[in-house]
Amino acid sequence: MTPTKKQIPTTLKDLGSDTVLCNLSDIEDPGSRGFRVGRRERLFIVRRGDEVFGYINLCPHQGTTLDWNPDTFLTIEKDYILCATHGAFFEIHNGMCVAGPCIGRSLAPVEIKIEDGQIMLGS
Ligand code: FES
Repeated sequence: MTPTKKQIPTTLKDLGSDTVLCNLSDIEDPGSRGFRVGRRERLFIVRRGDEVFGYINLCPHQGTTLDWNPDTFLTIEKDYILCATHGAFFEIHNGMCVAGPCIGRSLAPVEIKIEDGQIMLGS
């Protein structure tokens, strides 16, 4: 069952590894969500089952943000991360570009952890 999308603050105070992004159950499965944490670069997370992957929201091709709508980082089929600018496809589990102009390059990972059902920054 798809969780109802609720308002989640997307701009958060930077509490280092104590920063809670949201609850695992707040993200559709599969699904994605973007955040700003303090003065850090924009980041986004992708949920797939009980796993969550985090990346800086910058495409390695031209350095633009990837989302074409807020919190929309995945293809229609939700099987790849998609860059809205020139359509590059990235693997969800490692951020590697497998199709498009930056093939073979990767998104910059963000360390993420899950504690008691909460998605948190790893550092
Ligand atoms: S800026 Fe992402 S594919 Fe070109």
